[in-house]
Amino acid sequence: MCAATIRRAGPGDEDALTLVGQASFLEAFAGVIGGRDIVAHCQRQHAREKYAAWLHDPATEIWLAEVEPGRAPIGYLVLTKPDLPLADLAADDLEVKRVYLLHRFQRTGVGARLMQEALESASRRGARRLLLGVYGGNTGAIAFYHRLGYQTVGTRRFLVGENTYEDLILGLNLAR
Ligand SMILES: CC(C)(COP(=O)(O)OP(=O)(O)OC[C@H]1O[C@@H](n2cnc3c(N)ncnc32)[C@H](O)[C@@H]1OP(=O)(O)O)[C@@H](O)C(=O)NCCC(=O)NCCS
Repeated sequence: MCAATIRRAGPGDEDALTLVGQASFLEAFAGVIGGRDIVAHCQRQHAREKYAAWLHDPATEIWLAEVEPGRAPIGYLVLTKPDLPLADLAADDLEVKRVYLLHRFQRTGVGARLMQEALESASRRGARRLLLGVYGGNTGAIAFYHRLGYQTVGTRRFLVGENTYEDLILGLNLAR
């Protein structure tokens, strides 16, 4: 068990989120997808403005995982309105847009704790279903989601930099 604490992020956390967002994306995909695509993707999709917009969007919630000393950011999760190509997408679906941890802190239960925060919040918001997209080659993350009960509900092509990658779309029905 990792001694990380998890808390809801808010205005003022833009820099921490940008840092952990870029660092964890690079760590996850260096050697897996093209380096130029990683750099371009981080510049666009992990820009400070992106996190600032989410932090001010009432439909989006972000959790930060931190460790001592000094509450260093080691991971995060973004829960928001879905942007996924599913024919049966509904107004009461929500998407786990990102869940990432630095490698050193993986496999210690922090990812599952972040997913539990998202699940509880989605249930409180009356959501019907939790959805997410995951790179089809990311076998570790897919095993993680399967362990939590998510099942494949579709596929999509996901643009990273200048190239598209084949993703799976997974879903979990929520009890209401
Ligand atoms: C995917 C991720 C968020 C999971 O978080 P985590 O803290 O490492 O996972 P947990 O310790 O909570 O794992 C819970 C269970 O999920 C399964 N699991 C997690 N990672 C796994 C892996 N790499 N391979 C197989 N099973 C895995 C295991 O059953 C695990 O339980 P166990 O450790 O008792 O066997 C984290 O590993 C991560 O950030 N990976 C890199 C970034 C990434 O791929 N993010 C998802 C992008 S869509």
